[in-house]
Amino acid sequence: MCGIVGYVGERRAAPVILDGLRRLEYRGYDSAGLAVLAADQVQTIRRVGHVAALAAAVPGDLAGTTAIGHTRWATHGGVTESNAHPHLDSTNRIALAHNGIIENHTGLRARLEEEGVTFRSDTDTEVLVHLVRKFYDGDPEAAVRHALGLIQGTYGVAVIFWDHPGVIIAARNGSPLVVGKGNGETFLASDPHALSAHTREVVYLEDRDIARIDARGWSISRMDGGGVSRVVEVLGEEWEDEGRGDYSHHMLKEIHEQPESLARCLRGRVVPDQGGARLGGLDLTPRDIAGIRHITVLGCGTSFHAGLVGAAAMEGLARIPASAEIASEFRYRNPVIGPDDLFLAVSQSGETADTLGAVKEVQVKGGKVLGVVNVVGSSIARVCGHGVYVHSGPEIAVASTKAFTSQVAALLVASLSFARTRVLGPHEGKVFGEELLAVPERVGEWLASEPSSLHDAVELCTKGKFVFFLGRGVSHAVALEGALKLKEVAYVPCMAYPAAEMKHGPIALIDRNTPVIVVIPDDVMRDKTLSTIQEVRARGARVIAIHTAGDSACAKLADVSIPVPRASPLITPLLSVLPLQLLAYRAGLALGRDIDRPRNLAKSVTVE
Ligand code: M6R
Repeated sequence: MCGIVGYVGERRAAPVILDGLRRLEYRGYDSAGLAVLAADQVQTIRRVGHVAALAAAVPGDLAGTTAIGHTRWATHGGVTESNAHPHLDSTNRIALAHNGIIENHTGLRARLEEEGVTFRSDTDTEVLVHLVRKFYDGDPEAAVRHALGLIQGTYGVAVIFWDHPGVIIAARNGSPLVVGKGNGETFLASDPHALSAHTREVVYLEDRDIARIDARGWSISRMDGGGVSRVVEVLGEEWEDEGRGDYSHHMLKEIHEQPESLARCLRGRVVPDQGGARLGGLDLTPRDIAGIRHITVLGCGTSFHAGLVGAAAMEGLARIPASAEIASEFRYRNPVIGPDDLFLAVSQSGETADTLGAVKEVQVKGGKVLGVVNVVGSSIARVCGHGVYVHSGPEIAVASTKAFTSQVAALLVASLSFARTRVLGPHEGKVFGEELLAVPERVGEWLASEPSSLHDAVELCTKGKFVFFLGRGVSHAVALEGALKLKEVAYVPCMAYPAAEMKHGPIALIDRNTPVIVVIPDDVMRDKTLSTIQEVRARGARVIAIHTAGDSACAKLADVSIPVPRASPLITPLLSVLPLQLLAYRAGLALGRDIDRPRNLAKSVTVE
């Protein structure tokens, strides 16, 4: 959600902070701010809007070699300059940036107000800086520790004190923080992306760690006072910042990266000669796999949609009863977790609070949960301990595209591996594996010759008041994903339904010219979905069909025909989602939306 950056060293800190904030901006971009310590003064500059607005307000010669910065996704309090971080104590001598939510802020605020504190923002965070001030007696770490001891909720915090130049106090509970080691300088960030330009040697703080950071390094202790040492890790190449290249937007670039990201995900994992797949990270023996009673795939948003495909593959291919569940619902329904159940937590960022909460719920009950994660070293990957990295590479656009296809591919590989252990013969395994390995090239070919009919689809969708997305089986998951993309990137109201459900109510919404996008590959449900097309057409709908190339009956029936290559049913989502990603992108463009940073959103949702 929000992003934090910190710097102590010998350089002027402001440019380092601004650079870090730019790299973190995809996480939250309602407002941004920085606080710089110079000549025993804390100077704070905050602006509503993107980091560019903040950068324009920061004087080029702003001195100070200790600083913290923040980019915000508003939770408590509107998008205003006074609610932007860092927040200051009443004497303007302590500055604090916070990610997370302080759940008991109302009571704490009332008590502080009774004690005479005047608040300057509507945020939950501000109570924390006043508490730090209240407990400060010259020992910054002790004051932060004391203040955080009164907090219920989640936090990643960075604090600087006017009388401790060259020191940042950082603490984590539920909101990630990473410390980076430089040469005579030290960095802090909520996400290694902000650090990769400066250093690759990092230490991840764990929940309830508190760190005292200076130019020489750091010391970490536990919130209860115990000492601890954390291992220095080296960031891999995946953190390199590749920019947008020749593409106008990250989203378009990421859509076009899918041939490579898919190839990376599949490479070395699918072994056609053995008719199976190899996924060492899962840490499951053939006996473990044979004993699985049920698989639940957990995730949110796009990752949940990938999970729906994964569950269908686990059941359809590996013949293991499976379902997918939205992580935020799962974690609070007191789920029954059996000893032979397996859980897969799917997440691009690996930081989604709802998914992380679901993982912990499984673990509290003694269940086995594996991560299907993109970001190496992220919280979900670390808490799960084992799993599969999807290797889609950095995904910067808020709308997830290449992560979806890589998640689906990774889940298909896992299904193939489980299937081969339990029910699938070597020949069938080989055929499925070879088809999977051919997908990246077919995706590349389709993207290179994007059908012109896509423009007609964009026109219908941007003119319509409301768009329906329909599909059955795994194509329903694709319909859900297409609708999510169109909502978040183009702000077009839309809804996805399993096609056969239309007649149970939603068809009442169909009017003359209502655009209906139907995902209809040539599988066992095709003929039934064709009947739904007839039904909506009879009521005036304009049908956009995403269908198998060569299905002329389907093409003829639709107002707009978008063919995708033929594939086995479980593999179709990797192809049929492509036109829907591009449709959302082009619709967003036509409507003048902020494609990579849509309103009200953030890339990783680290609050509940
Ligand atoms: O990082 P995660 O995969 O856990 O994120 C889950 C969702 O927040 C995410 O997929 C979101 O729905 C995207 N903006 C969709 O494009």
